[in-house]
Amino acid sequence: MQIISASYIKSSAIYTQCPPADKAEYAFIGRSNVGKSSLINMLCDKKGLAKISSAPGKTQLINHFIINDLAKDNTKAKQGKSWYLVDLPGYGYAKVSQKQRKSWTSMIEDYILKRTNLGNLFVLIDSRHEPQKIDLEFVDQLGEWQVPFAIVFTKADKNKPGATVKNVQMFMDALNENWADAPPHFVSSAIRGDGRKEVLDFISDLN
Ligand code: GTP
Ligand code: MG
Repeated sequence: MQIISASYIKSSAIYTQCPPADKAEYAFIGRSNVGKSSLINMLCDKKGLAKISSAPGKTQLINHFIINDLAKDNTKAKQGKSWYLVDLPGYGYAKVSQKQRKSWTSMIEDYILKRTNLGNLFVLIDSRHEPQKIDLEFVDQLGEWQVPFAIVFTKADKNKPGATVKNVQMFMDALNENWADAPPHFVSSAIRGDGRKEVLDFISDLN
């Protein structure tokens, strides 16, 4: 899978404001600060495409990016179709009010359940930590909703390789307790580019 171009389209507060659902779409979700926006930039090889911050809670809206937009890039991309990547706001940030939490929940639930062209949700998990309840609960919820998803374990460069393997295994074991079919999973580093090919190949197979 080649990304020839990637550009920001719009930010939406509700799924009905999202761009027309006429292209395949792949979205990134996970705890605040886990590295969603960084992963999108790494996949697109475009620093600054999605806004990044060391302070959690940076991404607040549903952000659409168009990939390989043929109308704009017809000289470069003669074949293939365009599709969307979507950067979503994170969950689990302690410093938000009850009201903000509720509004996040309804924004995200509506988006996940009603966005008809959503081809896959990537759930990002920080590879530095042992399985966290909030992530396991979120993944269980997706399983109950029967939403197609894959897991990306982020920030692998921050760990010793053995620690990443151990945390990944523990998380997958915890999922296997509840679910017969484990979802696909990847390990990534936005700094080193780990996982780029694997995630893009996975998207390519779905596209
Ligand atoms: P919110 O939008 O606030 O939910 O955060 P996010 O999940 O989009 O995280 P973001 O990409 O903004 O990254 C958060 C912080 O983690 C930033 O300081 C990034 O530079 C850092 N970061 C993200 N991915 C990696 C990674 O793979 N390795 C390292 N070392 N740092 C990373
Ligand atoms: Mg973000």
